[in-house]
Amino acid sequence: MTSTPTSLHPALHVSAHPLVAHKATLLSDERTDTFLFRQLVHELTQLVAYEATAALHTAPVVYRTPMEETEGRLIDGTIGLVPILRAGLGMVEAAASLLPRTTVFHVGIYRDEATALPVSYYNRLPDQLLHDQLFMLDPMLATGGSASVTAEYLKQRGARHVVFIGLIAAPEGVQRMAEEHPDVPIYVARLDRQLDERRYIRPGLGDAGDRLFGTVAP
Ligand code: PRP
Ligand code: URA
Repeated sequence: MTSTPTSLHPALHVSAHPLVAHKATLLSDERTDTFLFRQLVHELTQLVAYEATAALHTAPVVYRTPMEETEGRLIDGTIGLVPILRAGLGMVEAAASLLPRTTVFHVGIYRDEATALPVSYYNRLPDQLLHDQLFMLDPMLATGGSASVTAEYLKQRGARHVVFIGLIAAPEGVQRMAEEHPDVPIYVARLDRQLDERRYIRPGLGDAGDRLFGTVAP
């Protein structure tokens, strides 16, 4: 249940589900504390991931119910999750518990506070990424710098099918991904208005990593 509301990106999917709208509103409310924030990130990740996985390949299997032999379908192929640290960590368990046989590859990137440019500090990607499907996980797509660099890392290692799963996106980041990675579909809970002068998303939710890990001064 997604809509593509603008021509920003050839494969932008903004959830149109009422539950997602409800939970994204609670997530971005400044009164939401760390405990509830984590819970909402988990729930929203599962809802957005449900939409982002609609095209996963399945294969037929024969098995038995307690009553008789029958045919079913099981997800086929290998799936990799690529959380972008820190905030992407909050999405891993949610996605991994939804999908069978996932491998998790961590990438650490933070934005330089002054320039908002991505700084890469950790990379556990293997030399070759032969997975059938890779899902990048990051709650925020602001300038798109972190997502674009990560998509580049994945493609350099042979990744074929990469999808970005996020919670809140800014038009600027979506547009950048359209220019640099038009082949990477974007699934998000909400598309917000714009970036501000500090390149934070407005209305946004503030700093996702800080809110997830409680690292803001009370
Ligand atoms: C946030 C967020 C993304 C990035 C998005 O991480 O989780 O990774 O900013 O911004 P961009 O689209 O402009 O690159 P941050 O740099 O705050 O690091 P953190 O997760 O460690 O807090
Ligand atoms: N990163 C965040 O956590 N929030 C923003 O608004 C932009 C980047």
